[in-house]
Amino acid sequence: MDRIAITGGARLQGEIPISGAKNSAIKLMAASLLTEEPLRLTNMPRLADTRFLGKLLQRLGTEVTESVGEDGPETLLRTREIVSAIAPYDLVRQMRASFNVLGPLVARTGQAKVSLPGGCSIGARPVDLHLKALEALGARIDLHEGYVYAQAPRGLQGAQIDFPIVSVGATEHAMLAAVLANGETTITNAACEPEMVDLADCLNAMGAKVGGAGTSTIRIQGVSRLHGATHAVMPDRIETGTYAVAAAMAGGEVRLTRTRSDFIQALIDKMTEAGVEVTPHNDGLTVRRNGSLLKAVEIETGVYPGFATDLQAQFMALMSLAEGESVIKETIFENRFMHVPELSRLGAQITVQGGEARVQGVPSLEGAQVMATDLRASVSLVIAGLAARGETMVNRVYHLDRGFERLEEKLGACGAQIRRIKGDGEDED
Ligand code: EPZ
Repeated sequence: MDRIAITGGARLQGEIPISGAKNSAIKLMAASLLTEEPLRLTNMPRLADTRFLGKLLQRLGTEVTESVGEDGPETLLRTREIVSAIAPYDLVRQMRASFNVLGPLVARTGQAKVSLPGGCSIGARPVDLHLKALEALGARIDLHEGYVYAQAPRGLQGAQIDFPIVSVGATEHAMLAAVLANGETTITNAACEPEMVDLADCLNAMGAKVGGAGTSTIRIQGVSRLHGATHAVMPDRIETGTYAVAAAMAGGEVRLTRTRSDFIQALIDKMTEAGVEVTPHNDGLTVRRNGSLLKAVEIETGVYPGFATDLQAQFMALMSLAEGESVIKETIFENRFMHVPELSRLGAQITVQGGEARVQGVPSLEGAQVMATDLRASVSLVIAGLAARGETMVNRVYHLDRGFERLEEKLGACGAQIRRIKGDGEDED
């Protein structure tokens, strides 16, 4: 398996173009199941996760064609007919978001059999809210041998869906199913993440009638069919935030382009409080730190527009070099501190109690062998490696490849000493 080696100490100088958002792209790809006409997605990130979902969609009947258009990579998806409404365990287990094909399959064909995803390294991550939403829309749900069997032979019916907690995936899933339901659906306590707006914009371009996305109440007037469309995937706000933190950690000046600073305002506020200079511009933002000390600040993750849980590990890496003690509270997932022991291998001083980590800043980190069990944790180790003395070797790089497009190339272009070491295909853990 590939590894990434980083020799710390180089300041970053240059420009990083941000790719399309992974977590939006995979839901937009699932939307292609809702129509027999082609859906063209531009600004598509080329990642292990998007490739993986493409493979699952092909099994369900979607033709998937990748190309490079005027504005970069694009993917054309066309599902003339659903040839199989089954998403097996081995595929859903490997990528949880595959579960989101359930709603579109039931909406289009009246039935589906999709494996339950199971837990993952950051928490139990149940799908009860996804299933409740589909039940509210009139689907009959049966659980049997680890599979969800969903049936709605006479189609889905518009409904009132009131989520007890905010869930990104369940809100998206409800939207993906309700657009073809008969009548009106109202989703309350909906997630407000920018990905909701991106999905609603794409569905509306396909002929759906979705209003209120980006607020906590989403109203959907069901339509009997959707048509083809072209939609540009929104910029990846987590990739944006990750490189912003990387620039702050390594020092120097990096301009992040093809993105939006307002998507990461909570992070920018905390970086500014910590003493990093952040300047928004109309194509993104510039992050600058020239030798100034970092101040320890407190953060608490929350739903949008709060501090994104997907940026918590990266910010913790930054705080490991700050002056003083930083308190980091994780409120979204119950087990999202798996990066702590690995950051500690680099010399960070962190203690965890329940959902709270206390980071006592140290003057410097030292390179070591590390690995992580999820995508954002892995990238926090890369970021820490940029500032650590000597060499940091990040193992299990497949996590990074799931969500960061050309990571070594993008950081390398700004002067980072980073290289990929090709593995022999063997998992060395
Ligand atoms: C999405 O996960 C993202 N994944 C996550 O990014 C992100 O961390 C998360 O939203 C929060 O922003 C994708 O978009 C593919 P949730 P999702 O449903 O939809 C609980 C990454 O690294 N819950 O908002 O699964 C759940 O356990 C990933 O890119 C239920 O209890 O997150 C969690 O505690 C990691 N029942 C909370 O809600 C349910 O049915 C929020 O989860 C669903 C969720």
